[in-house]
Amino acid sequence: MQKYYKIVTFGCQMNVHESEKIAGTLESLGYKATEIDEQADVVVFNTCCVREAAEQKALGNIGKFKPIKKQKKDMIIAVCGCMVQQEKRAEQIYKTFPFVNIVFGTHNSYKFKEYLESVLNKKQKRVYQVVKEDPCLPLEVESFRTSGANAWVNIMYGCNNFCTYCIVPYVRGREKSRPMEEIVSECKKLVENGYKEITLLGQNVNSYGNTFNNGKNNFAELLKEVDKIEGNFVIKFLTSHPKDLSEEVVKVIANSKHISHMIHLPVQCGNNRLLKLMNRNYTVEHYLNTIDMIKKHIPDVNLSTDIIVGFPTETEEDFEDTLNLLKKVQYNTVFGFIYSKRSGTPADKMEGHIPLDIKRKRVNKLLALQREIEKEKLKRFLGQTIKVLMTDRKEGKVFGKTDCGINVIIENVQEFKVDFVNVKINEIKNTKLIGEIV
Ligand code: SAH
Ligand code: SF4
Ligand code: F3S
Repeated sequence: MQKYYKIVTFGCQMNVHESEKIAGTLESLGYKATEIDEQADVVVFNTCCVREAAEQKALGNIGKFKPIKKQKKDMIIAVCGCMVQQEKRAEQIYKTFPFVNIVFGTHNSYKFKEYLESVLNKKQKRVYQVVKEDPCLPLEVESFRTSGANAWVNIMYGCNNFCTYCIVPYVRGREKSRPMEEIVSECKKLVENGYKEITLLGQNVNSYGNTFNNGKNNFAELLKEVDKIEGNFVIKFLTSHPKDLSEEVVKVIANSKHISHMIHLPVQCGNNRLLKLMNRNYTVEHYLNTIDMIKKHIPDVNLSTDIIVGFPTETEEDFEDTLNLLKKVQYNTVFGFIYSKRSGTPADKMEGHIPLDIKRKRVNKLLALQREIEKEKLKRFLGQTIKVLMTDRKEGKVFGKTDCGINVIIENVQEFKVDFVNVKINEIKNTKLIGEIV
């Protein structure tokens, strides 16, 4: 009889890709994916803890499976990911959800198959494996890819930056880079298999090669090597840290054949006192110089950023500095977050936490400003014909994106297939471009 699995993923692209590895394991054991809760024989929750809301959402979702599992006693439920890597949370999950069979952290997620088989073969009723970090790279597990035309590729794991608000370094461990040859050969195979977009993943891709690699390669060299691969595809990468993004890397992007002119460069805020408190290791001036340098080499660059509003002690004036930075840089996309206290991080113990209603007001103001900037910026595409990768067809509409990640709705599509097409832009609606194939 066919067995089914369901994976519920929270958090960033790193987690999305890790879920593809878990799916890879399940597919290799003969399971098929399902969206229907009751149909699943194995359910995996891959959690995130970057903000409180992500944790609450995961806990709520897991709780919902209690009555379902009561009806289907041999269903296996596993919880993994960043939230679980915090020992207190892992213990809480193990105790309050006795119907959960497997609890495992980020450092040993590549061992999922072993844990699942141990429960399947009735060797163990429950598995609890939250372990300390291993100094070696995790073993690579075959992925079952689910992101359409795009393929995620890990180039490194972990983070050494310890921004004072952030939990990631505690739950993902220290930076470890995969060997360059291994990454290039994975990318080659993906292009041969028809993927049109490759996204290189790391918490701070610009420090690729600094640690745990043979010390020989840096990010610029890696980009050059991946760019040499023959074929019709786009290379993207996430995430760059402003303190480390070098002119060398920007020049490689500018002179490349395949690398997207899209750079996500999280600034977090536009005030030097707060940047220092956040331990970001750059100033607003340094950041703006970097932006100028990027715009000089890549005039059509598509910039995006992350902003945290309401970091402890943030005043109205400090927040105004962030709004001014947005006006200066003119990003295409801004991801705005309300500061969320994370237990165990230095910022959690700082004085001067900001009330939630003020944080809400500030984030709304930030996003409203950005919507205006974005609408203005998109006007440059009106009447232009641009290269677009058609990615999805949903409810009669065809969606795509430009090489630099701008969303496009494509009308009058005769035959849909995941591929590059030339689209003439006729209209802008709610920060989306609308056009037709020419
Ligand atoms: N390594 C990446 C991604 C980190 S998490 C980077 O450095 O950009 C993604 C974003 O979540 C961060 O850029 C930050 O804006 C936000 N974030 C992290 N911790 C947060 C917290 N405690 N509260 C609110 N937002 C947070
Ligand atoms: Fe978190 Fe900072 Fe590392 Fe990004 S660079 S993951 S924000 S500690
Ligand atoms: Fe990503 Fe969330 Fe972990 S943002 S690294 S899944 S804490």
